[in-house]
Amino acid sequence: MYKAFLHTHTLVVTLFFLIYVVKTVLLLSNREDLLKRFTKFVKIPEMIVSVLFLVTGIYLMTQLPEIKMILWVKIGLVLLSIPVAIIGFKKGNKILAALSLLMITAVYGLSEMSRKQKPVIAVEGNLDGKTLYDANCKLCHGEDGKLGAMGSSDLSKTTMDVATIKQTILNGKGSMNKIVMSDEQASAISAYLESSIKGK
Ligand code: HEC
Repeated sequence: MYKAFLHTHTLVVTLFFLIYVVKTVLLLSNREDLLKRFTKFVKIPEMIVSVLFLVTGIYLMTQLPEIKMILWVKIGLVLLSIPVAIIGFKKGNKILAALSLLMITAVYGLSEMSRKQKPVIAVEGNLDGKTLYDANCKLCHGEDGKLGAMGSSDLSKTTMDVATIKQTILNGKGSMNKIVMSDEQASAISAYLESSIKGK
C-alpha cells in the first residue's frame, strides 16, 4: 500500500514538474499560441495529476514516523508556488512564472537530497542490541518490530536469518536506507532481533 502510494506520488510529481517546465519555457520564449494550446491540452491531465499529488502526499505524510523540518519547507514552497504560478501564467508575467518553477525545482532538489542522505545514528561504541535497536530502528519498526511506519516490514514476522538482517542494516533494502554503523553494532542488533523480536 505504502509503496503503491510512494510510486504514484513520484510519478505524478514528475508529470506535474514536466508540465510546469514546458509551460514556463513556452512563456519565456514568447510562444503564446503554443502555450495556450498546450495549457488547454493538459488541462484535464493537470487536474488529475494535482489531485493525485495532494492525496498521495497527504497519505505518505500520515505514514511518516516523524515530520522533519525539511518537509515543512517543501510543503511551504509548494503552497507558495501555486498562487505565484496561477498569477504568473494568467498575466503572462515571466518573472513570476520563472519564480514558481524555481520554487518547484527547489522542492524537487530537497526531496532528492533527503533521499540520498544516509542516516548516521549509531550510538558510538555501544554494543548493546536493545539500545542500538531503540536508537536506530524503533522509529519505523516500533519497539516490538510491528509498527510498520513508512511501509516497513513487520520484524516479528521476518523470515530473514541473522546474517541477512545484518546485511539489510548495513546495505539497506528497498525504501529502507542503509544505517551507517560498525559491523559489530549491526551484529548486536541482528542478534537482538533474533532473540527478542522475531517470532514474538
Ligand atoms: C526510516 C525507517 C526505517 C528505519 C529507521 C529502519 N527501517 Fe528497516 N525497513 C524499513 C522499510 C521501509 C522496510 C521495507 C523495505 C522493503 O522491503 O522495501 C524495512 C525492512 C527491514 C527488514 C527486512 C525484513 C524482511 O523480512 O524483509 C529488516 C530486517 C529491517 N528493516 C531491519 C531494520 C533494523 C535492524 C533497523 C535499525 C538498525 C531498521 N530496520 C531501521 C524502514 C526502516
